[in-house]
Amino acid sequence: MTRRVTAQTKAPRRHDSGRLNMHKRTTIRDIQKKAAEGTKISMVTAYDAYSARLVEAAGIDIALVGDSVGTTLQGRHDTLAVEMTDMLYHTEIVGRSTERLLIVGDMPFGSYQVNEDEAVHNAVAFLKAGAHAVKLEGGASVMPLIERLHDAGIPVMGHLGYTPQSVNVTSGPRVNKSRDELMEDAESLKDAGVFALVLELVPSAIAQEITKAIGIPTIGIGAGPHTSGQVLVFHDMLGFNPDFAPKFLKRYATFYETALAALKQYKTEVEGGQYPGPDQSY
Ligand code: KIV
Repeated sequence: MTRRVTAQTKAPRRHDSGRLNMHKRTTIRDIQKKAAEGTKISMVTAYDAYSARLVEAAGIDIALVGDSVGTTLQGRHDTLAVEMTDMLYHTEIVGRSTERLLIVGDMPFGSYQVNEDEAVHNAVAFLKAGAHAVKLEGGASVMPLIERLHDAGIPVMGHLGYTPQSVNVTSGPRVNKSRDELMEDAESLKDAGVFALVLELVPSAIAQEITKAIGIPTIGIGAGPHTSGQVLVFHDMLGFNPDFAPKFLKRYATFYETALAALKQYKTEVEGGQYPGPDQSY
C-alpha cells in the first residue's frame, strides 16, 4: 500500500530542528565551488569560543584550529610541543561555538609522523571532536596517509612551502624546496585527494603556477595574491603581538594597544576609586 503523504508527514518535526540547518555549515563542496567560480576563500585560525564566534560573525569561510595555538595561546616559540589533547580541546570548543564555519583541525607534530594507524586514529579523533577535515604538513611522503584518510571519510587539507613543524630542518621560517619540487609535491597531494592546499611563504609566481596547475583550492599565507584564498592567524592579524611583523602580515586591528590602554585605565580607576561607580553598584 502506498503511504499517503500529507502536509503533516512532510512537515519537519520539532525535535528534528537540529537538522533543519537554519545556519548551513560551509562544506568542502562550497569551498571548491567558490574557487572554481574565482571567488576568493577566507580562512582564519580560531581556538576558543570568542575567536570562533568572531570569525563566524565576519562571514569567514573556514576556521582553522591551528597548531599555531602553541605560539598564540601557549606562549611557545614554535608549534612542536602542541599535543593532540590540546588540539582536541580547542577543536571541540570551536565546534560548539559555531554553526556555519567549516572547521579544519590541524594535526600537531608527532600525531601523524610515527605510523599510519596512529595517524588515522588521531584524525578520527579530530572529526569526533567537531572538525570537518584535518590539515597536515608535507609533500609526496604523506601521500599514502592522505589516501588512507580520504578512504576513511576524512577530508584532508595539505600544507606546503614553509612547514612550521619542520622548523629545525629548515633552520627557521623558510622554504627549502625548489619550484619543481614544490610543483611535484602539489601534484602528489592533489592525486592523493587533498581538498585544498595551504601554501606558506611560497614565492608569489610559484604559488600562482601551482594554483593554475592543480585545479584544487590553494590557500596562501605569505604566498602572494594569486592563490584561491588566504589564511591568517587570528592573533597576528588583529595585532595582539606588536613584535610579530613579517612582511606578509597585514594588521587589521591594533588589539594590543587598545587592550593595554583599557587595562591601564581600569587600574587607574580602581586605584582612584572611580570604579565601580554608582552605575556599576547594586
Ligand atoms: O597553525 C596554523 O595556524 C597554520 C596556518 C598558519 C596555516 O598552520
